[in-house]
Amino acid sequence: MAEGYIAVAAEGELKPGQMKRLELAGRRLLLCNAGGAHYCVDEMCSHEDYSLYFGCIKGRSIKCSLHGSWFNLATGAPENEPADCPLRTYPVKTQQGRVWVDPTSA
Ligand code: FES
Repeated sequence: MAEGYIAVAAEGELKPGQMKRLELAGRRLLLCNAGGAHYCVDEMCSHEDYSLYFGCIKGRSIKCSLHGSWFNLATGAPENEPADCPLRTYPVKTQQGRVWVDPTSA
């Protein structure tokens, strides 16, 4: 496993549509299972300081439940207003029965 990656979950721990909060490298991150694929983004919405953990996942996007913006989990890009700044995204790998995140590369 390349340096920088940290094991954050067991493979299969998160079902599609589920999320897990992480604290890595001084950052609050969100591990998401979207349709069987894992993504990692900043936990807090880029619009205001509100946790995306309270939102929901549909397709490859996550919704902020405060004002309703959707974000693409792969790119972090907002898909509708009011958010207009992307979320930071972090590399994710599934290997050796675990899910790994590199929190240092964003
Ligand atoms: S806080 Fe997320 S859309 Fe406003």
